[in-house]
Amino acid sequence: MTERVTTLISEKELKERVTSIAAEITKSYNGEEVKTICVLKGAVMFMVDLVKYLELPVKFDFMDVSSYGNDTSSSGNIKILKDLDDPIEGENILIVEDIIDSGRTLYYLIEYLKSKNPKSIKLCTLFNKPDRREFDVEVDWIGFEIPDEFIVGYGLDYAQRYRNLPYIGILHFDED
Ligand code: IMP
Ligand code: MG
Repeated sequence: MTERVTTLISEKELKERVTSIAAEITKSYNGEEVKTICVLKGAVMFMVDLVKYLELPVKFDFMDVSSYGNDTSSSGNIKILKDLDDPIEGENILIVEDIIDSGRTLYYLIEYLKSKNPKSIKLCTLFNKPDRREFDVEVDWIGFEIPDEFIVGYGLDYAQRYRNLPYIGILHFDED
């Protein structure tokens, strides 16, 4: 098997979309402070680019979570690998995610964050695969709707590789 990457979204298109989402987010918070929570590791590039264009008082924090592979719907379904550094009670929380696929990770992450009593929780994802949704999650901002393909780059990986690509590619596996 040989891996091959073809471009789906260029660096220029990413930048244009990220700055336009930042403008929409800026408008919706009316000058209030927001704390962005980056879901590691995939959302790192998106978050660092996004916050540069938010014209608001901004704090940020990071979480690393993995969702268990089973479908049982108890709220203990999320494994926290890196928790928040500080309490979020009374704060406006903006979750920054790379991609929503089944929705499982976000579904449980939102439940967890709600239990910490923030003032508000909003969700911004750069990519959405609507055809794959199994868990209902309310998304406030979506960068791009994408087809059911495996994408890499701009933070997204395959086996931890390709995160450094400045564009988004589709990963293909060719028979040798
Ligand atoms: P969910 O819990 O099924 O929504 O899983 C979302 C997570 O799966 C994302 O945060 C990514 O880490 C990973 N993922 C889903 N689709 C892709 C893809 O096309 N490329 C890279 N990672 C993906
Ligand atoms: Mg992720």
